[in-house]
Amino acid sequence: MPDYVLAIDQGTTSSRAIVFDRDRRVVGIGQQEFPQIYPRSGWVEHDPEDIWRSVVATCGEAIRNAHIEAGQVGALGITNQRETVVVWEKATGKPIHNAIVWQDRRTATMCRKLKKLGLEKMVRGKTGLLLDPYFSGTKLSWLLSNVPGARARARKGELLFGTIDSFLIWRLTGGKNHVTDATNAARTLLFNIAENRWDRELLELFDIPEAMLPEVKDCAADFGSTDAEILGAAIPILGVAGDQHAAIIGQACFEPGMIKSTYGTGCFALLNTGSEMVLSKNRLLTTIAYRLNGRTTYALEGSIFIAGAAVQWLRDGLKIIGTAAESGKLADSADPSQEVYMVPAFVGLGAPHWDADARGAIFGLTRNSGPAEFSRAALESVAYQTRDLLEAMKKDWKSSGSKTVLRADGGMVASDWTMQRLADILDAPVDRPVILETTALGAAWLAASRAGIWPKRTEFSKSWALDTRFVPEMDGKTRKAKIAGWKDAVRRTLTA
Ligand code: G3P
Repeated sequence: MPDYVLAIDQGTTSSRAIVFDRDRRVVGIGQQEFPQIYPRSGWVEHDPEDIWRSVVATCGEAIRNAHIEAGQVGALGITNQRETVVVWEKATGKPIHNAIVWQDRRTATMCRKLKKLGLEKMVRGKTGLLLDPYFSGTKLSWLLSNVPGARARARKGELLFGTIDSFLIWRLTGGKNHVTDATNAARTLLFNIAENRWDRELLELFDIPEAMLPEVKDCAADFGSTDAEILGAAIPILGVAGDQHAAIIGQACFEPGMIKSTYGTGCFALLNTGSEMVLSKNRLLTTIAYRLNGRTTYALEGSIFIAGAAVQWLRDGLKIIGTAAESGKLADSADPSQEVYMVPAFVGLGAPHWDADARGAIFGLTRNSGPAEFSRAALESVAYQTRDLLEAMKKDWKSSGSKTVLRADGGMVASDWTMQRLADILDAPVDRPVILETTALGAAWLAASRAGIWPKRTEFSKSWALDTRFVPEMDGKTRKAKIAGWKDAVRRTLTA
């Protein structure tokens, strides 16, 4: 009996695969980091072959660690870094260029030009997104214009476009299925989220041939079966969602008003707004939270580009910590009298500022400042940015009152120090669940509930369990002063 579920979580810096059993327990994990390629300032690429190899390897590792055979896996769910663009040859499956990663800013000028033409309102109305290099549309357009012959080949149907989910499914099914799900499509700048279809006007605007686009399915659907040669068995792929959407599912935020915030490479806060497609007045995004049984649930999203990546920079760039886990302890030893602020605009700033040209800055250094103050400033920047997002959400959607509790997940939430500081800066409680593999859990649920291995939504929601609720402890005066210092630092970092 195929009792197990495999979830692939293809993230920005690593690929993970997790095997869950029938009782939703994690029984096997595989994880691999892969190289980040930075060809120029603000450019970020991945080699799709690195991604592919790491996914196949981690699936094998997870299955081995679970002490099962691939044939015992009854369903596969995929979740992935969103917006990242891959273009490959239909005939060979070979990518024509490195993947252009969501953090990449190379199309900033293109976005500025389109904005000047007054097109942002139209684009927002259809996609819920803004004219920012973050999204796939301008990246895909750049690839088609800059790889010799690409646009003509795409027109002839020789090239296919996909976000990472789509590329993986193409490979996993042995080149049989060119598909994606509604949440990944919603991040391309080409998909009309009100009408749930690729949008002709936008395809023309970015000069994207329709022939290269994948078919868009619900998040729980039949995406095809894996080629038995690749993972050792033909496993049905039954669930797909962008990582932030899988996390909102994994956190069981199924009711309007519920908010989750995931601290991975970046930080992404999503507020479930139900069937209402709320257009933000405060520079947040509107997105598809998930689409199940043909019904779309929407969300307001705040996107921060650098969260865990700031800790990675402390480790790999500054080399002041050996492991990410050391950052909290180091921050705790920082001198309270030093007001050091880090604005981690390494690849520009996302919501609510959307300043593609801004770059990282540190303020308030003294001769006494050292690793501890840097570490605290990096961790605190995540809390301040989350606060900026939640403030914008409160203004946009009145029902998101101050009583809403934030459900947090992702690698950074393992740090008690960071979670406590987050609650202090937000002046609101923050809930950390027992299962921290929220993103993978969401993808697994999509696939496993469709396969009948796991229960449907209501029972799944009831099984969400709290590990720790962090409640604010900071006094109001300190909080106010710290937030004012942060605002000042951001003001000095913005380019416009
Ligand atoms: O939109 C980008 C996001 O999907 C990346 O997620 O987990 O790699 O920070 P993560």
